[in-house]
Amino acid sequence: MAVNLLLGLQWGDEGKGKIVDVLTKDYDIIARFQGGPNAGHTLEFDGIKHVLHTIPSGIFHDKAINLVGNGVVIDPVIFKKELDNLDTFSIDYKAKLLISRKAHLILPTHRILDAASEAAKGKAKIGSTLKGIGPTYMDKTGRNGIRVGDLELSDWKERYRSLANKHEAMIDFYDAKIEYDLQELEAEFFAAVETLKTLTFIDSEEYLYQAQREGKKILAEGAQGSLLDIDFGTYPFVTSSNTTAAGACTGLGVAPNQIKEVFGIFKAYTTRVGSGPFPTELFDKDGETMASVGHEFGATTGRPRRCGWLDLVALKYAVQVNGVTQLMMMKGDVLSGFDTLKICTSYTYQGKEITHLPYNIEPENITPVYTEMKGWSEDLTKMNSTEQFPKELNDYIAFLEKELETPITIVSVGPDRTQTIHRS
Ligand code: GDP
Ligand code: IMO
Ligand code: MG
Repeated sequence: MAVNLLLGLQWGDEGKGKIVDVLTKDYDIIARFQGGPNAGHTLEFDGIKHVLHTIPSGIFHDKAINLVGNGVVIDPVIFKKELDNLDTFSIDYKAKLLISRKAHLILPTHRILDAASEAAKGKAKIGSTLKGIGPTYMDKTGRNGIRVGDLELSDWKERYRSLANKHEAMIDFYDAKIEYDLQELEAEFFAAVETLKTLTFIDSEEYLYQAQREGKKILAEGAQGSLLDIDFGTYPFVTSSNTTAAGACTGLGVAPNQIKEVFGIFKAYTTRVGSGPFPTELFDKDGETMASVGHEFGATTGRPRRCGWLDLVALKYAVQVNGVTQLMMMKGDVLSGFDTLKICTSYTYQGKEITHLPYNIEPENITPVYTEMKGWSEDLTKMNSTEQFPKELNDYIAFLEKELETPITIVSVGPDRTQTIHRS
């Protein structure tokens, strides 16, 4: 059994990109299994920060193959920009970047539809990244989508035209008064498709099957977070794919019994970008401190991230749904300096205390109940072993391990590759 899985346990931006980059040296293949350029995965090393949207986070290593799986949706225009960025760093990606023929394409009109749909929702908008994710997955499940493999067929442009025409009628239906120049967008799109076609398209489920038979080590990289999962997240304020562990099976064609370790990543506090309920959200100075010390701005949209205390009720749910075997705690350094740290350990729901995530976690339904812990003041960012950790941090970690019944094997104390502490 050779497939490990790494995914976010909160509302995204937990630090998946950083940890995938750290772990890549131990793997032969890094494979993204869902989502698309709504993701922004940040990696930092040698004083340089990189943000990847569609390309897996192992791309900066020499040997590992980076695979964009069938469950991913690809915008050729954004993909090309990512490749251009790799070129500026002289990363030779041609031999180590593979794309599943079954991955779906985001068309320019998908992005416009996303914007029109959000505009029509008004105050109820999802807070989408406007990358066309929802409309593309709708076309996938509606069996209308265009896949990477179609680009190898002679009639794909006719299919494109007919789908784009349909989208234009749908955009008119929304009457959202969105201005766009489709000709210009299409010129950019078709040029980017030509760049995409210079890469290697594969039948990725077969490729991964053979790789497993050969004993290759595979790490599946998730995008978004468990609470944004289309089934188990805070619907409708979610993304349009299964971000949870099962998504790796459908998004790569890996059998469930081939998955060994499930690495669940969480921040030592909680953030969320976009709309939707967030029980432990802070609107005070503590929240502002987390946002400023943690530089909490979206890696894809630049929007400020909402911040709040760690929500163990939600985290437990994510551990459960994903079958997490190892936890990784990110951004502990951001909590240095708080006298008291709060952890939400239950909710008051309809007058009763509950410890599971109910159907509706809108603020009018639940009130978080907090356990308080003593904070620490030491700067963690230069520490390189758990022995240097302040007692209060070790207590915080021990409390979480006990509550979540899962070991925390990595503690991250800064954005750089080197600021990563392994715990045995
Ligand atoms: P992803 O989407 O899960 O890959 O996460 P993002 O890259 O969107 O957001 C995580 C942000 O936190 C990035 O800016 C990272 O550079 C940064 N980061 C990751 N780990 C740490 C950490 O331990 N401490 C601090 N201060 N920043 C971190
Ligand atoms: P990574 O992989 C944080 C959020 C959006 C919005 C909702 C739906 O970097 O963790 P969509 O564009 O998918 O239709 O938006 O999901 N969202 C993310 N939030 N991190 C992400 O990815 C996200 N991808 C989507 O803000 O609330
Ligand atoms: Mg991100």
